[in-house]
Amino acid sequence: MLRTHTCGELRLEQVGLRVTLCGWVQKIRNKGSLVWIDLRDRYGITQLILEEQVTAPEILAQVQKLGREYVIQAEGVVVERSAKNPHLLTGDIEIEVKRLTVLNTAKTPPFLIEAETDGGEELRMEYRYLDLRRPPLQKNLLFRQLVTQYTRAYLERHHFVDVETPLLIKSTPGGARDFVVPSRLHLQQFYALPQSPQVFKQLLMVAGLDRYYQIAKCFRDEDFRADRQPEFTQIDCELSFVTQEDILPFFESFMKYLFEATMQVKLDKFPCMTYAEAMQKYGSDKPDLRFGMPIVEITHLVRNSDFSLFNQAKLVAGICVTGCGDYTRKQLDALAEFVKSHSLATSGLVYVKYLLDGSFSSSVNKFYDEAQLALWAKAMQAVPGDLLLILAGEVEPTQTALGTLRLKLRDELALVSKDQFSPLWVVDFPLLEWDRTTQRYVAKHHPFTSPKQEDIPLLTTAPELVRANAYDLVINGVEVGGGSIRIHERSLQEQVFKVLGFSAEEIKEKFGFLTDAFEYGAPPHGGIAFGFDRLCAILGGEDSIRPFIAFPKNNAGRDMMMKAPSTISEQQIKELGISL
Ligand code: AMO
Repeated sequence: MLRTHTCGELRLEQVGLRVTLCGWVQKIRNKGSLVWIDLRDRYGITQLILEEQVTAPEILAQVQKLGREYVIQAEGVVVERSAKNPHLLTGDIEIEVKRLTVLNTAKTPPFLIEAETDGGEELRMEYRYLDLRRPPLQKNLLFRQLVTQYTRAYLERHHFVDVETPLLIKSTPGGARDFVVPSRLHLQQFYALPQSPQVFKQLLMVAGLDRYYQIAKCFRDEDFRADRQPEFTQIDCELSFVTQEDILPFFESFMKYLFEATMQVKLDKFPCMTYAEAMQKYGSDKPDLRFGMPIVEITHLVRNSDFSLFNQAKLVAGICVTGCGDYTRKQLDALAEFVKSHSLATSGLVYVKYLLDGSFSSSVNKFYDEAQLALWAKAMQAVPGDLLLILAGEVEPTQTALGTLRLKLRDELALVSKDQFSPLWVVDFPLLEWDRTTQRYVAKHHPFTSPKQEDIPLLTTAPELVRANAYDLVINGVEVGGGSIRIHERSLQEQVFKVLGFSAEEIKEKFGFLTDAFEYGAPPHGGIAFGFDRLCAILGGEDSIRPFIAFPKNNAGRDMMMKAPSTISEQQIKELGISL
């Protein structure tokens, strides 16, 4: 070994010991007769000291040539510091340098490699290996590893078998877009990278593995968001002989275990809410329950006037913003503009200020008197000083717009903190949703999800009303996991494929391997997959998942360091039989 100790471990107990450290030069303070160097490695920072009277002149001369991020080896004696640094674990000691070797020189880094940096995100992504030298990012990667360790330990203790599934698979329709890989040996044919190991984990249940898990790489050619990457990781699980009533408590215990083991956070029992209730009350299928501000319907209270917008709307509903009855015109206009830019399908924003003297000031004064406005305020449990924000229109767009506004106010009014955790299960999702662009039903979760037994007859009469045995785990308004009980019978699976618009030939061609398997003794089964990157981000109190991914892609799905995607050579194109 080139070193005897790391830069994070020396304490007063080692005073007098001769040690050798290796690391990167973080900072040099040169006072002429005295030079201090902060030497950094993954474990911490140790101060080196060189003094004119003590240190050999050739070493002092060497120090003059050092620069930031040089890789050095320093041999010396541990001494007690006169001025201790309480912010550093090694802050009681320093190393009196006796020998110094430059292991490698370094160009001046393009940004500061310290806990707080001056580099912009794109630049830091281009030099990700330098960004990863910074302690907060190293902490994130170590934290991710910790979550992996506890995940494996917990699932394996409960008899889950870790099975690797292939990455070169068949492209299947539905869900997001596939990333495809051309085949050289089979010209004009393509593999797809898996959007998830879904069909494989189901086949492993047919194979009798009983309980499967995998920390699995998934690939989706989707649009970018802070909590999405084209390449991400799932904790993917599947179990045989289970119902939803078995799965939710099991994985609730798993989550509680992870939170306690990694963050020392004890979570209470997770509430469970239907999709319909979540939409009605929070305008989202992933409600943030860290704060209140529920949506309240007032359709029945607004019909008795000449205000045609409210008379014609399918839904009139609002939220009560505590203590914001004194919002200025400018603030209200900004909120109205926000609603306009986020939801074209609803009315403009209507406001009612419940003034401190008990009177009302509203944008619909012309149509509603004080007594009527008082009824709205009562329904929305408002008190003087509060602000009511109301929207009207079709049911779902109005709910969604109010849900979005609710989150905007959460951020604007700083209503939540990052160390609060509010998990819940959302259940009873619709099986299907109507896709306006393609004019067909698409699976809300995926096509292998089973409909609720009692809703199966609706598949032929009113497919949009069929509820699924599907569930999501939501924490702080983020969909952390999702899963379902699967179809395990050929006939029902084919019926669902047909409702999704697939012809008998397409079903055979695209999914024949699965429907065939269902005829060889497929057990009832179900499962869930957690977004691993998202889970780490939530636990770590971050909105973006990128800090928890060693080499993430940027906003446009590009790897800024490798410059991928990139063109390939003519030769490769020719071999793959693709024309551009
Ligand atoms: P689903 O598509 O809901 O289910 O994905 C499961 C979880 O994966 C995470 N996730 C993502 N994380 C980062 N970037 C992305 N682009 C991304 N997309 C999804 C989310 C999500 O809840 N096979 C099913 C699971 C099952 O039915 O068992 C599936 O993949 O946290």
